[in-house]
Amino acid sequence: MAVDPVRAQYETYPYPARDPKDEAKRLITGSPSHLRELTHWLFAGRLPQDRPFRLLVAGGGSGDALTMLAQQTADAGIDADIHYVDLSEATRKIAEARIAARGLTGRVTFRTGSLLDAAEWGPFDYIDCCGVLHHLPVPQDGFRALAAALAPLGGMGVMVYGETGRTGVYETQAALRLLARDDEPPAKRVALAKRYLNALPASNRLVRNPLVRDHKTGGDAGLYDLLLHSTDRAYTVPQLEAEIAAAGLRTVTYIDPARYAPETYTREQDLRNRAAALAAGDRAALAEAMAGNMPVHIAYLTRADRAEDTVARIAPDAVPVFRDAETEAEFRAMPPGAPSLPVSIDGLDLALPLPRDAKTILDRIDGTSSLEQIRQDLPAAPDWDRFHKSFTQLFAALNGFSQLFLTR
Ligand SMILES: C[S@@+](CC[C@H](N)C(=O)[O-])C[C@H]1O[C@@H](n2cnc3c(N)ncnc32)[C@H](O)[C@@H]1O
Repeated sequence: MAVDPVRAQYETYPYPARDPKDEAKRLITGSPSHLRELTHWLFAGRLPQDRPFRLLVAGGGSGDALTMLAQQTADAGIDADIHYVDLSEATRKIAEARIAARGLTGRVTFRTGSLLDAAEWGPFDYIDCCGVLHHLPVPQDGFRALAAALAPLGGMGVMVYGETGRTGVYETQAALRLLARDDEPPAKRVALAKRYLNALPASNRLVRNPLVRDHKTGGDAGLYDLLLHSTDRAYTVPQLEAEIAAAGLRTVTYIDPARYAPETYTREQDLRNRAAALAAGDRAALAEAMAGNMPVHIAYLTRADRAEDTVARIAPDAVPVFRDAETEAEFRAMPPGAPSLPVSIDGLDLALPLPRDAKTILDRIDGTSSLEQIRQDLPAAPDWDRFHKSFTQLFAALNGFSQLFLTR
């Protein structure tokens, strides 16, 4: 039987490189699939309570999203039935050891296999598929297989490579293919790639691209994944939207939403008005072209035939929650009266306008108080309309960068 080069790669270099012992020191979190984030965007702020919440981590790798989801659902007291699948046995062993290190083994069913078979184990309320679909020989087969495994009211968080942010990657892959045959031993190809990188002049487009770092920070596994992969493509927003639609899915949001809003990049009113008139996918495509700094696209998806809104909305009974304790500490330390929120991301520095009472509102966000309770507790309790206006502006900045969500 022919060797699957993708599987062979991840048997040699499980990705990302992780040591299960580190679970004692820290929990790695991120997007997609942060529990508060997915609850906000896909479940209108509250997960279904009447049955176990069924999750699939598809192409789960060494277990970053798996560990985050298993720990966060356990911490939140959610009855979760979590499934993990990956092609690589060696990779699965690391994920299993990380889950065991946290005492969460009973929460997860592990499989070595292909996500193309996901419907056999479904249906799932939530599917994570991060950094995997762009490695399939035919990515559309993967999109369709996951769509077929999704419960009618379920949602999905995916990450695929972004074309504009990966400048220099594909020409480097092509150059390395000229220098080293695919069948040379992986360690030899890694050593050659390192020598090649050392030889590059400052004008090289990979050298000039600060957005991709895996070859510098991800060890040999990171370098192999970025520059020596056998099966790897990147997407522009329109290409990704076409893939999503063809699988019978639709995009609820890109993460971070503010990065995909053209208004983030221009104050010029005519440009803003024209951008505002575009369809959602075209707005995201425009933002991608303007920003030019997106090495990945993270999107939350549902089935295209899903009628009702899945997003938590600003309402008196909605309870705002920070992303995590670090975010909360950061905003607690914010000086009162700050006119804007500074954000630095992938080489872009932004100042997002804040309402004057931002700090007094943020100080009252405690994870249990509703917006109505926060309003009543504010100095001289403003009426709902005034409060709504302030909170909407505050929320656009903080939710726009995935720091604040709504629950019910
Ligand atoms: C770049 S890693 C990403 C791992 C993990 N999702 C993360 O974000 O850290 C890609 C993973 O997808 C797995 N993979 C690739 N194709 C697959 C398939 N058809 N079915 C299941 N897993 C697959 C690989 O074995 C590898 O572990």
